[in-house]
Amino acid sequence: AAEERRSKILRMGWDELKISVEGCIACPLCRSRSRTVPGVGDKNADWLCVGEGPGAEEDARGEPFVGPSGKLLDNMLAAINLERGRDVYITNIVKCRPPGNRNPSPDEAGQCAPYLERQIGLIKPKLIIALGKVAAQNLLHTDAAIASLRGRLHEHSGIPVIVTYHPAYLLRTLADKAKVWEDLCFARSTMQGLGAS
Ligand code: URA
Repeated sequence: AAEERRSKILRMGWDELKISVEGCIACPLCRSRSRTVPGVGDKNADWLCVGEGPGAEEDARGEPFVGPSGKLLDNMLAAINLERGRDVYITNIVKCRPPGNRNPSPDEAGQCAPYLERQIGLIKPKLIIALGKVAAQNLLHTDAAIASLRGRLHEHSGIPVIVTYHPAYLLRTLADKAKVWEDLCFARSTMQGLGAS
């Protein structure tokens, strides 16, 4: 049944995908969410940013990264001349808020994975930025820490992936700001190397 559900999702267009996420009851997060948070941005973007999961403000508004860490994400993107809604698509590993902003469980992330897989298939981004540990570990199927994943290119379904710290972490640990700047410059130069902008 799981494989059937996945292959059905992988055939969906944007409209069907949106309806499917909105009505999703595949994991327990559906019971505590206010709104689903499928993603936002340019559906033909070269850049895809993947976070962990909606927080309180995202859950209330149905849009990813609109709270404090969203503001920082917008500033991070602006630093490399990117704008939400114009150049990037922004989504999360899980589309519903985990209670109290806990990390999504492996089952929750696994149930939600086909949605992200389909989004990636439809957008066909040239580069994926994994924001934080949960995004990186799920996208790259690894238990490795961010510190060991940063600074080199990874790959997810044939698409280059760059890992950096989550903006919410950065808000608490400004000492790592320089590292994020490095990662963003690395992403920018990687994209230039791919002949895109
Ligand atoms: N943190 C995330 O990982 N995603 C959001 O959408 C908001 C905060």
